Amino acid sequence: MKIGIIGAMDVEIAEIKDSMKNITQEKISSVTYFQGTIHDKEVIVAKCGIGKVHAAVCAQTMILRYSPNVIINTGVAGSLNNKLDIGDLVISDYVVQHDFDTSGVGDPIGLISGLNLIKIPCKKSLVEKIKDAANNIENTNVYVGTIASGDQFICNTKQKDYIINHFDALCAEMEGAAIGHVCYLNNIDFCIVRAMSDKADGSANMDFPVFVQRAAKKSIELIDNYLKMI
Ligand code: ADE
Repeated sequence: MKIGIIGAMDVEIAEIKDSMKNITQEKISSVTYFQGTIHDKEVIVAKCGIGKVHAAVCAQTMILRYSPNVIINTGVAGSLNNKLDIGDLVISDYVVQHDFDTSGVGDPIGLISGLNLIKIPCKKSLVEKIKDAANNIENTNVYVGTIASGDQFICNTKQKDYIINHFDALCAEMEGAAIGHVCYLNNIDFCIVRAMSDKADGSANMDFPVFVQRAAKKSIELIDNYLKMI
């Protein structure tokens, strides 16, 4: 069993990289892939960069070059739901691309051309395992639900309400659904884990830099628990 782990920013994977043993690394198309072990499990870790194209390039390369059985995307997100506080965790059961819009030719908003899906499903058994791994994280509420991705930092109520109203998503970020899309095309199990760094509203620009580090660590803590457990 080989687990692929992708984060968009250094802060989202730094601690995972630090806990790896027997590391080898290789750079492909500007992304460095770190191969090694964590808790004696084989892992392949990469920082993809921000946004859906970076995420897709990284996921596809990881699949072709390293053949992971599963890909997990770890990081931070903006909360779209009042029940989610900064620091809380969301585990995806579905992902959507909130900026995919071919409604001009009659499609429903968010429909992914070619897949004929709006929401891409995660593997249920993987979601359950990651949920189990979240049991012993202290002072943290954990939710399972839809995660919305797009090439936008969501920081006003108009953008936020659009995503809530169309997709009923719990949080917004910029990579997860692109990774999910690539995994779906390649028949690879995937799941997105995100800790809330802000509330995706007018305060997001100020909250994000203050909470990003703490939130990123929370998501990593969950991934580490999962690796310990499997
Ligand atoms: N990642 C963390 N916060 C975010 C936000 N508000 N919008 C998009 N991606 C994010």
